This record gives sequence, structure tokens and C-alpha cells, in this order.
Amino acid sequence: MELKEKISRTFEERFGGEGTFYASAGRINLIGEHTDYNGGFVFPGAIDKVIMAEIRPNGSDKVRVYSIDIDEYAEFGLREEDAPSKSWARYIFGVCREIEKRGGKVEGFDAVFAGNVPLGAGLSSSAALESCFAFALNDLFNASAIDKFELARIGQSTEHNYCGVNCGIMDQFASVFGRKDHLIRLDCRSLEYEYYPFKPEGYKLVLLDSVVKHELADSPYNKRRESCERVAARLGVDTLRDATMEMLDAAKADLSGEDYKRARFVIGEKQRVLDVCDALTAGDYETVGKCMYETHEGLSKDYEVSCEELDFLNDLARRCGVTGSRIMGGGFGGCTINLVKDELLEPFVEKARKEFAERYGHEPKVYEVVISDGARKL
Ligand code: GLA
Repeated sequence: MELKEKISRTFEERFGGEGTFYASAGRINLIGEHTDYNGGFVFPGAIDKVIMAEIRPNGSDKVRVYSIDIDEYAEFGLREEDAPSKSWARYIFGVCREIEKRGGKVEGFDAVFAGNVPLGAGLSSSAALESCFAFALNDLFNASAIDKFELARIGQSTEHNYCGVNCGIMDQFASVFGRKDHLIRLDCRSLEYEYYPFKPEGYKLVLLDSVVKHELADSPYNKRRESCERVAARLGVDTLRDATMEMLDAAKADLSGEDYKRARFVIGEKQRVLDVCDALTAGDYETVGKCMYETHEGLSKDYEVSCEELDFLNDLARRCGVTGSRIMGGGFGGCTINLVKDELLEPFVEKARKEFAERYGHEPKVYEVVISDGARKL
């Protein structure tokens, strides 16, 4: 059954009548990993995998919401002390609170939602959920007076204040600003952004999900961020955006080996994003791919956010002649993103399924993605 139809039926059964439909998307990131919270560049795009919600104000001060995919219902008030315990409901509660903290208005509402963004795969299902509700509540209660930058920040603050993940702005930004057939080069320091057409002729983007679950809260993710902040402080800069390899090398003796490696990755990655943007403009996919492999190497060896399964998939891509491949997102599990020539797609995916299953006892999940629009009213 179509997502919309499924939601509509469930809404009718639970609450009667109908509400308004909204959707927002998960994201991929071509390059620029762990650079967002370092004030650097990222290069993401929204994808054709969404979270969709039907929502209707209910005239009370209570939120009543049902998640079809998790098959759970939550009901909560809008004051700080009303925070629900279920983690999926905390995303929605957090969005409500963050809108109110900014002087926006939220009243009680009924909602049913579902989606097809794989969970815990590094495709930002949580950002999709946050931006779907932020967009909707802005439309329903605030006449869309909150601008899109603030909608992205509302999602990010929800992660910080209600979900324990000290993330950057990339996922929520991509989810709110995503545009069909375009990637977004975002400068995470100034929030200046530029859309780059992305419809590579003769190539496909395919994600191979290792199905290793990552949980960013309380995870080494926050520790990575702390490492970067320590190095920035030691170098006397606001963020690693302002640091160079020369500065880092000059301070090497004062840094732990681990902090040094973390910063080395981030400083290298900053330049790679710019190189990939130029290469893409020139239609030079070989350079795009080469940079993706370099990023994987850095994320695996220096930043240490890969895992055996993802290194295996990356190596397999290389062996199959795939143009570019790397672990994507926060890490500690999830997907590799692969830029594959059309004619190599089938043999590559087949080989990946077979060899991965032989080694780890199950196949990777395979998602072909198309760059699509972000948050919207349907
Ligand atoms: C997660 C975070 C983002 C970003 C990436 C790594 O997806 O939510 O802010 O830091 O990891 O690039």
C-alpha cells in the first residue's frame, strides 16, 4: 500500500476525519564528513526516501501521535516536564519545545506518521522526522513565519537538547533545503549554500547497508567532536575550519596521537569537499570517486568511525572498479555510498551480496537513491 494511503487510513481509524499531509526526506552526503561541527563544508542532498505525516490541530494542549512503523502511540503535553520517554516521541516533543523557545507557537495536535527512510543506516531518518514536524508546525501554527534556516536549527537543537547527540547542522539542513536533482554545497560556518546540479549521466548512486546498527547518543560521535574542539583550542582557532596542516604539525608535540589523527582527517576533508565540487562542475567523476576513496581511508584510519563490515564493502567496491566508495554519515555502522558506472552496477551489487553474505552471514541491504526535494506540504 502507498505510504500516503496507509497513513490516511490509520488517521481516519484513530482520530476520525483527515488532516494535512507533510513530508521530509532522508539525505545522502557525497563528501564532507564530520566537517559540519568543525565549521567546514559538506555536500549533501535530500533523497527519495521520506518520513510522511498527517497532522491536525486538536484544540487541546496535548499532542497525540502514532508511529505506524514502530506501532506505538504516545501522548504528551507541551511543557518541558512533559517530555515523553519513547525515543521517537522525544524527537517530536523536542521540535515543539524548540519552536516555542524561539517564540513560535505550538498547540495540541493529532498525528500519524510513517516512512521509508531506513533506520540507523546513516540516512538521517531522525532529521527527516524533525524537519517534517518542524515544517508542519510552522505551517499549521505560525503561518510559516519561521525561516528555513531556523527550521534546520530547530531539528539540530532537538538532537542536542532532547536526544543526546551533539550533531552538526548538515542532516537537518539537507532535509529542509533539499532540491530535486541538486546537491547542496553548504558552508557550515556562515550557512551560505549553493545548489549544484547532480544527475550524473552514466552513473548511479547506490548505498550498501551493512545492517550494523549505530547509535549516536552516548556514542563515540560526541567524543570525536570533543577531540576536534580540543585541537582547535590548542591551535587558538574557533574551529578546525581555520586550521591548516602546517599549524597542526607545528603543534603535534602538544597533542595526543589520537587528537592529532582526528584533526588531520578533518583538515584534509575540508579541501576534498571543494575539490569534489569543482570536479563535479567539470563532469570529472574520476576525481570525485578518488576523493571518496580518500575520505573512506581517513574515516577508517584517522577518524576511526568505520568498522570491519564497511571496510570490507569499501574494499570490494575498489576491487570491482567502482568509481567512488566510502562510509557515509556519522559512522559506527550504516552504509557505504557508491558512485558506480551504469554497466558495473549489477555485477557489483551481485558480488557484494554474495561475498558479504559468505563472510557475515547476511546480505547487505541495497538502496538506489535519487536526489529529491526536502521538507514540503503535500
Ligand atoms: C551525523 C551528524 C551530522 C554529521 C555527520 C558526519 O549524521 O548528525 O551532523 O556530523 O554525522 O558527517
